[in-house]
Amino acid sequence: MLKNDQLDQWDRENFFHPSTHLAQHARGEAPNRVIKTASGVFIEDRDGNKLLDAFAGLYCVNVGYGRQEIAEAIAAQAKELAYYHAYVGHGTEASITLAKMILDRAPSNMSKVYFGLGGSDANETNVKLVWYYNNILGRPEKKKIISRWRGYHGSGLMTGSLTGLELFHKKFDLPLAQVIHTEAPYYYRRADLAQSEADFVAHCVAELEALIAREGADTIAAFIGEPILGTGGIVPPPTGYWAAIQKVLKKYDILLIADEVVTGFGRLGTMFGSDHYGIEADIITIAKGLTSAYAPLSGSIISDKVWKVLEQGADENGVIGHGWTYSAHPIGAAAGVANLKLIDDLGLIKNAGKVGAYLQKTMRDALSDHPHVGDIRGEGMLCAVEFVEDKADRRFFDPARKIGPQVSATLLAQDKVIGRAMPQGDILGFAPPFCLTKEEADKVVAGTVRAVKAVLG
Ligand SMILES: Cc1ncc(COP(=O)(O)O)c(C=O)c1O
Repeated sequence: MLKNDQLDQWDRENFFHPSTHLAQHARGEAPNRVIKTASGVFIEDRDGNKLLDAFAGLYCVNVGYGRQEIAEAIAAQAKELAYYHAYVGHGTEASITLAKMILDRAPSNMSKVYFGLGGSDANETNVKLVWYYNNILGRPEKKKIISRWRGYHGSGLMTGSLTGLELFHKKFDLPLAQVIHTEAPYYYRRADLAQSEADFVAHCVAELEALIAREGADTIAAFIGEPILGTGGIVPPPTGYWAAIQKVLKKYDILLIADEVVTGFGRLGTMFGSDHYGIEADIITIAKGLTSAYAPLSGSIISDKVWKVLEQGADENGVIGHGWTYSAHPIGAAAGVANLKLIDDLGLIKNAGKVGAYLQKTMRDALSDHPHVGDIRGEGMLCAVEFVEDKADRRFFDPARKIGPQVSATLLAQDKVIGRAMPQGDILGFAPPFCLTKEEADKVVAGTVRAVKAVLG
């Protein structure tokens, strides 16, 4: 195809991009990039630059780019039946099969899957279901949702409220009143440097207990958390965190929503993050890795315990007043079936665990001693490097210096490797496709070392 020289101008004149500096983009002051094609872990822009995508898009293209099996499944579905709705008991072979495949892989207390389109709307569904659940149980006051600072759960009205990052609240009048936040399980950023990891877990528990006492347990419906903090900085929880938190939730009859939008279907080297950390959720949110982003699809996996109450609700109140036109869209479902099959056939979860551990170890070997690298952490195919001004005192850089974004931009410019500058703190994040090889991991690490050296010496 001939290159359209007006594309750049059309982009700046017409396209409202998400998570973008709108004014700089429109004025042409910020870089833009038109992506044309992709294969494996590489994407290619229309100027012929081939970039190693070590963030798998937005940690979603888990099987890698260019998988013909999924493209063909999508095409076949579109030709046979592009759409029919799922209301009033309708289904398609793809959506019914995918629900079965998800339940076969999910923790054993799970019962049903509701399908949405993205992680934000799935969490919106979850909050509604939790409210409905407590109304059916005759507890209309039990409605507040506890989330963690630095959690990421989407950017809608409710889900943007659940998200515990300033950027997503500022000037949007969020969070809404029904959402309350508690301590982030972020040991490296603990306020009291003298605390051991066990002390810090006890502190998180005490904070949660205090919040519940302040608000009243009979006003709190659910707690939502990602097994490992993602957008908030790629932070694995301190040892014992989930066991301790779940004890508190059980004590006060507070439901647990495990947001597995990033961790679901293998990113930690296990099928779910819940398997990895011993989380027994009442509802699990899935999206991204469900289709590896070949088509939009999300889901809410509902436990037996919640499902029974939903059934009771239907017997008392009739049809559930919830659903999207595109719930269980056949094209998304066909992509999901092909994607989960491919993950199994190629043993990609095992590779995510193996090469992920290699990536993290290589990163540590190369950068732990650097005076401005404060922390290197991760789990499975997730890895983060956090920069500090002073390592001994753990003094962070002034955010205005934008050290994280500078390192990320330099990594891209010098070595054509994509690592994401996480939105809060100077943190460079990696979340490559599961098919990453050790040689590609070496390239990511070598590029990072060069970028850190160029920016920080
Ligand atoms: C843990 C988590 N939950 C929810 C979402 C929101 O998903 P979406 O962007 O598809 O609405 C994200 C997106 O990054 C996420 O990381």
